[in-house]
Amino acid sequence: MNQPLIFALARGRLLDETVPLLTELGIEPTESLTGSRKLMFETEHPGVKLLVLRAADVPPYVERGGAHLGIAGKDVLLEYGSDMLCEPVDLQLSKCRLMTAMKKGIELPAMGRIRVATKYVNVARRYFASQGRQIDPIKLYGAMELAPLVGLVDVIVDVVDTGNTLKANGLEPRDLIDYSSARLIVSRVAMKTRHQHIFPMIEKLNKWAKSRDAS
Ligand code: PRP
Repeated sequence: MNQPLIFALARGRLLDETVPLLTELGIEPTESLTGSRKLMFETEHPGVKLLVLRAADVPPYVERGGAHLGIAGKDVLLEYGSDMLCEPVDLQLSKCRLMTAMKKGIELPAMGRIRVATKYVNVARRYFASQGRQIDPIKLYGAMELAPLVGLVDVIVDVVDTGNTLKANGLEPRDLIDYSSARLIVSRVAMKTRHQHIFPMIEKLNKWAKSRDAS
């Protein structure tokens, strides 16, 4: 088993929070992960390579064997919806809420389909179906908050942390759909084939996450 262990990370906000976690595992990248156009990085840890991907691409890479393990937000995992991924550790990072949000003082149309802007189309469809409503989703990749302001949609489904982005755009949070935080994910295959490498990592990260959660 001389193949390197491949660890997929999400770029963006979560990447900065991931660096201390890598240190905990004794994985030091040989160069900075941020501010580079590179996508694959060597580490000082013999046999571990890092991939830096778009957050939504971490689950498919891990599921399909492009990486053995990775870090992904629960929001992204709920949207991706795979039963081939294990989530052995809640890392207690990037905590936020998946919510619906609307213009202040506006209500949903009483009948008919609801127009929803979101990058979480599956999550939105499931949530509104549970409320007995069908939706016309518009998949957007960012700046969701604009869509209700220009009359494109009735409601958005997005992650909310401080709520400042909603407030700054005259929107307000409405229904809580789910809580999100970053998770360690491992493919079911790697859990078996690379367990001698991955189980000690799971143990360390569980302890690390519990100590952070308690502090
Ligand atoms: C997310 C989300 C909101 C914002 C919420 O965007 O889409 O716009 O954060 O955070 P707040 O409640 O603290 O204001 P992010 O900055 O992650 O960028 P993205 O649009 O690329 O996902």
